[in-house]
Amino acid sequence: MRTIIEPFRIKMTEPIKLISRADRMAALEQAHYNVFLLKAEDCCIDLLTDSGTGAMSSEQWAALMLGDESYAGSRSWARFEATVRQITHARHIFPTHQGRAAEGILATTRIARGQLVPSNSHFDTTRANIEYVGGHAVDLLCTAGLNTTAELPFKGNMDIEKLANCITEHGAPHIPFCMVTVTNNTGGGQPVSMSNIRAIKETLRPHRIPLVIDACRFAENAYFIREREPGYQDKSLLEIAQEMFSYADAATMSCKKDGLANIGGFFVCNDDQWAKDFRNLLILREGFPTYGGLTGRDLEAIAVGLLEALDYDYQVYRHATVTYLGDRLIDRGIPIVRPVGGHAVFCDAREFLPHIPPLEYPGIGLVNALYIAGGIRAVELGSLMFGKFDAQGREIPAPLELVRLAFPRRVYTQSHFDYLIEVIDEVWANRQRIPGYRLTYQADFLRHFTCHLEPVAQ
Ligand SMILES: Cc1ncc(COP(=O)(O)O)c(C=O)c1O
Repeated sequence: MRTIIEPFRIKMTEPIKLISRADRMAALEQAHYNVFLLKAEDCCIDLLTDSGTGAMSSEQWAALMLGDESYAGSRSWARFEATVRQITHARHIFPTHQGRAAEGILATTRIARGQLVPSNSHFDTTRANIEYVGGHAVDLLCTAGLNTTAELPFKGNMDIEKLANCITEHGAPHIPFCMVTVTNNTGGGQPVSMSNIRAIKETLRPHRIPLVIDACRFAENAYFIREREPGYQDKSLLEIAQEMFSYADAATMSCKKDGLANIGGFFVCNDDQWAKDFRNLLILREGFPTYGGLTGRDLEAIAVGLLEALDYDYQVYRHATVTYLGDRLIDRGIPIVRPVGGHAVFCDAREFLPHIPPLEYPGIGLVNALYIAGGIRAVELGSLMFGKFDAQGREIPAPLELVRLAFPRRVYTQSHFDYLIEVIDEVWANRQRIPGYRLTYQADFLRHFTCHLEPVAQ
């Protein structure tokens, strides 16, 4: 088979540089050992997130020029609405400035204090929005999803038996809706099968519990379904996405992922009352319902990006890049979540740094070591991001200690990844010397974004 190549050529470049090791150490100390607090220009290869960090296509840049900035009923809104409807077939469509705005309004309008919202795995902002209004975010990931090495095709699936038990135990009136995150970012970027989405819907239907898809990476999930699930090989990614959304009553979306845009999001639903409540709060928080916190030009770029994300060749290339890095780390015996996910390679920090206890955040140890060794910025998805507290206020570690190397879309080339592999090699060789960390400041919600840390003396 021929080498898979980038299905684009580069028209515009942006310089990156590697500051000296001494400067990287000083920058990290100044950032209180929290890479979110670093200056981006001090990061050579920035794999903090795949959210809003992608490169837009020439078609998207051209579409920006068509932006209609009318306050209400703009042409750009009509184009955005038509594209989102083509993909989701939803009755009501609302733009928002990003995914969490859709989540926040959904949570505020639909969740009463004490109610619970099951999911395969809630993302951190989704969990925080649910908890902020007094709800409980419950993760019902399939058992295979917690096994970081089992080579199974759909480790992002929800455990249907656990879902049924959750409904029996708590009762449908306490469950305002159920969510499914595609692909499952928190669980290693693993996909969710169509049969699982269908089974979730079938389990909820008799109880009249609505299903909400967290659709951030819907196109990557559609690609996995085409590649891995029998019966989908002859379908287009658009057709697969349409079927996924056909099981949903509503969806939240961050267009910063599979909208291939730098900002934007949306909420869609079929229920008129849900739409009415959402619209009222949208006007208060985001803006008039035909722009929802976005400019006309953003709406144009997203309309183009959503369909580009469903281009099969683009997904083949994207997956090949993730696999390229994953295969080379596996060859070296470096512990990563297998199989590789859709938008990132996730290192297993617990296996990588077994000498660091969970509550000294092995993921932070690895993230900071990667930055010092090569100016690579990654992110911890472990006990710092997802840790909870028991009734006595004691911290409970997260089930997984992962470090995500997220791939901005259409941004880095193979030599960037070869450099990254060299840096990881160096960190792996010196792993025994990497310290754990302790918190010196934390906020009540989403603490990983702003917390301060210091190394624990070894
Ligand atoms: C699965 C998932 N849901 C929701 C969000 C929130 O989206 P946004 O960052 O646009 O608010 C993210 C962002 O990373 C995500 O990965």
